Amino acid sequence: MNLTPRLQAAAELCRGAQRVIDVGCDHAHLCVELVRRGAAFAYASDVREGPLRRAQETLARCGMEGRIKTVLCDGLRGFTPDRADAVVICGMGGDTICQILRESPWVLAGRHRLVLQPMTRSETVRRFLAHSGCTVTEERLALEGDRLYCVMAARGGCAPYEPENGGLFSDAMRQDPLFSQYLNRLAGRCRAALEGRQSAGLDDGGLREALAILQKEERYAT
Ligand SMILES: C[S@@+](CC[C@H](N)C(=O)[O-])C[C@H]1O[C@@H](n2cnc3c(N)ncnc32)[C@H](O)[C@@H]1O
Repeated sequence: MNLTPRLQAAAELCRGAQRVIDVGCDHAHLCVELVRRGAAFAYASDVREGPLRRAQETLARCGMEGRIKTVLCDGLRGFTPDRADAVVICGMGGDTICQILRESPWVLAGRHRLVLQPMTRSETVRRFLAHSGCTVTEERLALEGDRLYCVMAARGGCAPYEPENGGLFSDAMRQDPLFSQYLNRLAGRCRAALEGRQSAGLDDGGLREALAILQKEERYAT
């Protein structure tokens, strides 16, 4: 099974996990890969029947029905904490990921590794994690086409804190070879948005602050 770089990064961040819940599994390719890499059991869950049918087809094709169970449910509502030691949520918007975590706070208590890959608003996810007492322990960047995706591993159980770098990036991301490219793109987007506001006679303190953080980091990263 050829996983995309985004899902490959997610699989790597799950290393060592024995029982995994993949929320929003769609085709269940990630679950199959995790079991092939040594996980004992995985739950492939999705809120829609269509994706779950695709998941079941994948499991039948790969002979994985005994090791991966499909579950129809919204977020983590169909699960109790003892089901897994890792929870993966990939390929959804950052707001949806936060909503799913907020609705099942047991997942933020520190017993589970979280592997999260927001398609949008990764800074919202980092801020939510910090305010919920979760530390981003690892973060990778995955390049697909011309898009860069953030894939993070986190664990809860500490006191809530203010996120480093305004949540724009994590300290754990600095080792990634694509980090300076990521900063560059983000700074470019901030600059363009700020110029847009300024040309309409408006100012945006939040954007200016974000740009200052990114520019300071760019100087170290290049
Ligand atoms: C774009 S696909 C991503 C599939 C796969 N995780 C990936 O990253 O390639 C998003 C999937 O999440 C599912 N989904 C969206 N909201 C969900 C929720 N609240 N609970 C469970 N699944 C959800 C959708 O039905 C869809 O199959």
